[in-house]
Amino acid sequence: MTYRICLVCLGNICRSPMAEVVIQHRLEKVGLSDRVSVESAGTGAWHVGEPADPRALAALRERGYDGTSHRARQFAANWFSQYDLILAMDQDNYAELTRLAATEGIDADTRLLRSYDPAARTSGDLDVPDPYYGGADGFAHVLNQLERAADGLVESLQEELGDR
Ligand code: 4NP
Repeated sequence: MTYRICLVCLGNICRSPMAEVVIQHRLEKVGLSDRVSVESAGTGAWHVGEPADPRALAALRERGYDGTSHRARQFAANWFSQYDLILAMDQDNYAELTRLAATEGIDADTRLLRSYDPAARTSGDLDVPDPYYGGADGFAHVLNQLERAADGLVESLQEELGDR
């Protein structure tokens, strides 16, 4: 059985598509990509069907990742059962997912992605800041955070799925 992860931000054109590409890359590197699937979605509908933001694609490309196949989706309340783990990029996304889950009477396993980054846990700041209204440096900063969290997440998946 594939272990299914969905990454969720607001627009699904910046943070969660970048996280998806980075995590997919890490999963392939450790040989878990056939056992873990990673997808992404936004809580908002504004960009549904669009590729990732050009600044997100550029930041990814600069570090050797390719995000060009992404198309934005909106997370729907009836998707909770499709995923084993739902990871929000910030507290707002988390709150919206919790609200959506309640409309379905579901207690979904929803967490913040950066809770997998030990340094972020220590600092107490678990949000990936929305880079949409900023510049290229914001996207590079977000990518740093996503790479650290992806390392922690994949380590945790290796422990959890290792013996199955
Ligand atoms: P994301 O960034 O949630 O990281 O994809 C945003 C993208 C679009 C908008 C806001 C945030 N927007 O308001 O259109």
